[in-house]
Amino acid sequence: MGKKMAIIEDFDKKIGELKLQYRKVNRPIVFNFRDFCSVWKWAKRSDVLTHHMHKYPAKLIPCIPIFFLSSKICSENDIVMDPFAGSGTVLLESIAHPYNKRNCVGIEINPLARLIAKVKTTPLDHKKLQRKKDKLFLNLKRNDITPIIPEYDNLNLWFSKNAQNKLGKLRACIEELGNDDYKDFFLACFSSLIRKVSLADPNIPPPVVLKPDKYKEGSDRHDEMKDFIERNKTPKVKALFKQCVDDNERRVKSLSDIEDISKGKVKARIVWDDSRNPKVGRLAAKGNIKKKGARAFKENSIGLIITSPPYITAQKYVRTTKLELLWLGLADSKSLIELDKETIGSERVKVGEKLVTTNIKAIDDLCNKITDISKERAIMVNRYFNDMVLVMQNSYKILKKDRVMILIVGNNKVCGYDVNTHDMLAEIGESVGFRRELVIKDRIRSRGMITRRHKNGGLIEDEYIVVLRK
Ligand SMILES: C[S@@+](CC[C@H](N)C(=O)[O-])C[C@H]1O[C@@H](n2cnc3c(N)ncnc32)[C@H](O)[C@@H]1O
Repeated sequence: MGKKMAIIEDFDKKIGELKLQYRKVNRPIVFNFRDFCSVWKWAKRSDVLTHHMHKYPAKLIPCIPIFFLSSKICSENDIVMDPFAGSGTVLLESIAHPYNKRNCVGIEINPLARLIAKVKTTPLDHKKLQRKKDKLFLNLKRNDITPIIPEYDNLNLWFSKNAQNKLGKLRACIEELGNDDYKDFFLACFSSLIRKVSLADPNIPPPVVLKPDKYKEGSDRHDEMKDFIERNKTPKVKALFKQCVDDNERRVKSLSDIEDISKGKVKARIVWDDSRNPKVGRLAAKGNIKKKGARAFKENSIGLIITSPPYITAQKYVRTTKLELLWLGLADSKSLIELDKETIGSERVKVGEKLVTTNIKAIDDLCNKITDISKERAIMVNRYFNDMVLVMQNSYKILKKDRVMILIVGNNKVCGYDVNTHDMLAEIGESVGFRRELVIKDRIRSRGMITRRHKNGGLIEDEYIVVLRK
């Protein structure tokens, strides 16, 4: 048996054992994905490929998709799909897998995430990138650049005037490059710089004005934060940008060095923005989706769905990414609010909105209990699950018969009540036709930028992996 087959057999065997165990005990099986994958050098994940190009809230740990993608869970010709693609972890692992490469499509509502996912999965010609880089840095030396600075009431709160001017000039020079994948690469580098040169606390994912005195006087953190503010009064934007471009150039080279990817034999694409109503549009510059001529997803066409859905009220995706969205011109103050409202799991709900029954007892009972404490929170939870019903119905339709949808999700607390999100999502899955085949529990150790919850919210610690079969 060849090496590839032996590896695939190994992952398959493990999945079989886990399924058997689950059937016996009928409760989540504790399993450590990272430990299992770390046996293989090729599956170890630190700063490899393009994973570390840009931060994003609640990024998925790559070894979970690697684990499933390494098995015979679907055939090599099948298309993988992630309806909550975020910054593209599943998309990237799907096309870059050393033994089992598969085309992948994603859906993602946050325009910044779409841009990052696009850049992380698009190979670039190294020489062309060099030429564009030289041109960009030459342009940056000019004195006649009119800075492009976002119109935002509170911008002075987040950036010194000096930083605004420097960032604005940098953005103007990037905008002068032709609309192509190379420009998007530089925009992603630019975006990854925004928080580093801001006056926002770097220790808290959603922007909060940094107050060093919040940290213990005399502590290292206190001194570091004082330095951070001092430095960002006149930040070295150009030097930091250069460093970022150099680092990301190395990362994108490791992607482009994969022949199947550079030759376009295997591709990953974000194709739509809302998984409640999935369609196939065209991915354009800056991660925008061209909707004209979009077509419906073909029923029974996808070989595997693997995704980490948004958390209920726990991850402030739009708030956390608002400064980058503004600087990239991907949103303004008005559209930020709209985007937040549209994002599943949003806290922005209308007080007075009626609860809509999901017909799933555990969910409806929970919403009623929460209503007694906070109507607003009950609406949020109710809206979250109703949105997820739509996603699960659509996922069921487009998945091939006998294939699986894998959800990676954390439980949390709302108003002091434990919300067994994983179990409730599995119930929704069953209500639309799926069969619960396996539930695994893993500890979260490094979900990037996880937001700490307030005291009634609880911290998300365990990650549940729910495998549902059509
Ligand atoms: C847990 S994150 C996914 C992280 C991703 N796996 C990664 O590694 O970066 C959930 C994502 O769902 C997105 N989302 C929320 N509502 C959505 C919707 N209606 N359609 C598509 N994506 C949505 C959020 O913007 C967020 O990026």
